[in-house]
Amino acid sequence: MSKILIKNGRVISTTGVVEHDLLIDGESIAALGAPGYFDAVEPTCDRVFDAAGKYVLPGGIDVHTHMELPFGGTHASDTFSTGSVAAAWGGTTSIIDFAVQRTGERVHDGLAAWHAKADGQCAIDYGFHMIIGGVDEDSLAAMRDLTNNEGITSFKLFMAYPGVFYSDDGQILRAMQTASELGSMIMMHAENGPAIDVLVAQALARGETDPKYHSLTRPVEMEEEATFRAIMLAKVAKAPLYIVHMSAKEAVEAVAGARGRGANVFGETCPQYLYLSLEEHLAKAGFDGAAYVCSTPLRAHSEGHQEALWNYLRTNDLSVVSTDHCPFCMKGQKDLGLGDFSKIPNGIGSVEHRMDLLYQGVVTGEITLERWVEICSTTPARMFGLYPQKGVLLPGSDADVVIYDPHRSTDISAASHHMNMDHSAYEGIHVDGHVDTVISRGSVLIENDTFTGRVGHGKYLKRGLSQYLL
Ligand code: URP
Ligand code: ZN
Ligand code: ZN
Repeated sequence: MSKILIKNGRVISTTGVVEHDLLIDGESIAALGAPGYFDAVEPTCDRVFDAAGKYVLPGGIDVHTHMELPFGGTHASDTFSTGSVAAAWGGTTSIIDFAVQRTGERVHDGLAAWHAKADGQCAIDYGFHMIIGGVDEDSLAAMRDLTNNEGITSFKLFMAYPGVFYSDDGQILRAMQTASELGSMIMMHAENGPAIDVLVAQALARGETDPKYHSLTRPVEMEEEATFRAIMLAKVAKAPLYIVHMSAKEAVEAVAGARGRGANVFGETCPQYLYLSLEEHLAKAGFDGAAYVCSTPLRAHSEGHQEALWNYLRTNDLSVVSTDHCPFCMKGQKDLGLGDFSKIPNGIGSVEHRMDLLYQGVVTGEITLERWVEICSTTPARMFGLYPQKGVLLPGSDADVVIYDPHRSTDISAASHHMNMDHSAYEGIHVDGHVDTVISRGSVLIENDTFTGRVGHGKYLKRGLSQYLL
């Protein structure tokens, strides 16, 4: 059992920033104390990190990743191994990935396949949500078993992608009723898939094939309507609801309205919706915009979505920032959609950059340091039943710690990132901060710009129920 002392740092929690030293014993946090408090035990420590001038925060928790997701005739290009190492580089020490029940498949078979992909392959701790690709008696029974026995307490349903993951309103209502009975969380991909499919077919018939039409055929109204419908169905079922990857301000308005009425409704957004847009990225000349095809789509900058999303992060109507990490290479994957935007695999990879990109929001004055930690670590832990094991630096919590250096900077580029992608959606973006040291359960994963961790270190996380439900 090794002992680590982190001294002279500024420890960030949701409630403030304090100068504290932090003692790690084995895999857990042993104690925090005023600077110098652990001087007497320092000689007995195996490692001592001087964090003077730096921040010390709980490791990032990315609750929305898709390692190796089958999509559009290909698979997301990060494995659990490459993706979890990349996450560690970026200060993320836990992920919750989406295990998949494909339509026609048994939930438990889909789950077993996901365990087989991840087992022994992760450099950081990981849990699963379950995508329910077919709501029926069997999958509803499986929801009960997963919640009660497997530590999987959240289930994603799709109002989009007919013929792939789509559930109709009746199926959604039944899954919500089951979630209500269990206290588990329904995560919703809220876009009106059948209507979008009509718009897509009409656009293609007009010869509109460029990547930008991905967004133009998924207008704000399709996200807004589906979000509102999901909220109404959840109200009828008395089920908690977490809307994933929100990009349209009008949709978040619906979440804010429901929250204002006291509903257990939560919103998540992603860095791509805070920093990237239809005009500047998706509408790039030629096929370059394919790099930015994801769903929900990037929105028009001119419509003010980015400003609104930052604002909703401040008001807590958006509670979590995850990445929806779903990387595809341009060559051999995104180019499946050359000449037909609807065949471009949907997804952007950024598991490595979330902590940095959101820290940039601190630098630009959009959020506070405390809110940075809250939306990237503490709330994700509480939302998905991992708190106080994760998401906080308290005695007894897992020693998942990031030392962050605000005096260094990070230039994002495909040439230097660690994700298995041949491009970066954030190419050339400069962040005024840098992940300095990353510790996962007392093991140092990153220091001196070197990965010192181990694939296989990461453990499966059995999760409890959401800790936000009234
Ligand atoms: O474009 C996206 N979001 N790809 C991943 C699948 C999903 O809908 O989350
Ligand atoms: Zn989705
Ligand atoms: Zn996703």
